[in-house]
Amino acid sequence: MPHFLDIHTTDPAELRHMIEQARAMKTARDGLPKGSPDAEQPLANHMVALIFEKPSTRTRVSFDLGVRQMGGQTMVLSGQEMQLGHGETIADTARVLSRYVDLIMIRTFEESVLQELAEYASVPVINGLTNRTHPCQIMADVMTYEEHRGPIAGRKVVWSGDGNNVCASFLHAAGQFGFDLTFTGPEVLDPEPEFVALAREKGSRVEIIRDPVRAVEGADLVVTDTWVSMHESQSNRERRHNLLRPYQVNEALMAHARPDALFMHCLPAHREEEVTSAVMDGPQSVIFDEAENRLHAQKAILRHCLGV
Ligand code: CP
Repeated sequence: MPHFLDIHTTDPAELRHMIEQARAMKTARDGLPKGSPDAEQPLANHMVALIFEKPSTRTRVSFDLGVRQMGGQTMVLSGQEMQLGHGETIADTARVLSRYVDLIMIRTFEESVLQELAEYASVPVINGLTNRTHPCQIMADVMTYEEHRGPIAGRKVVWSGDGNNVCASFLHAAGQFGFDLTFTGPEVLDPEPEFVALAREKGSRVEIIRDPVRAVEGADLVVTDTWVSMHESQSNRERRHNLLRPYQVNEALMAHARPDALFMHCLPAHREEEVTSAVMDGPQSVIFDEAENRLHAQKAILRHCLGV
């Protein structure tokens, strides 16, 4: 079953094909109203379930729009409103939904929920974020980097802050797309060693440098994310802020990266916390291109999963 559960479990040639297809589909739509159909309708007669157990703006809107542009239909479901949120097992939910829809996209908490859903579904499942990973985001980010600066292979990406789920998928992508990644952040918020080891096994140079200034030297791309992810308790907010404050991406830090370095953030951002407005709205920032490219990258992911 061609699920899209993680970047490191997807063949690199297939990942590359998805990026190229996303670029072609984006170009083909240039200037068209957002609600108009694509010239090709590969998802005609397909029904897609979009399940959200956590909040979302980008993932929800971009998947919904992308399916519609390709001729398919969606049903957007909240986990709490489903029996899934009231005791029905994941396996039974997977088997029931597979009788109604052609593909399931889920945003959930535990990675085990995604994995069990994929195990029992007889239709493809897409990972729309778990506590551990966020692969759709990083497909959009690779696409965005390459739109602006050409191939990402061999480039130096610096992740500053919390080694969270988005950082994990960046590490997965480093191994698959052949770029290097430097993590800078407090030791207690390091990415999981398993993710670091996997990227290194695939030939990426992965460094962990505590000094953010030294870390960003020679960076082609600087990335950060919110200091308190959706699954983190707000009771840890102050502790996390104290730990992460030295890793804020601001103009002074960006000045140590390459002059043509880009800045990315998956959004939503907390302005003046993990990143300043001067950087977010500055000339190196491509944050809204990233957000737009969620749409195009996910359309290619949907086509890959459905084989259309
Ligand atoms: N970046 C991202 O996944 O955004 P949402 O939480 O709004 O979907």
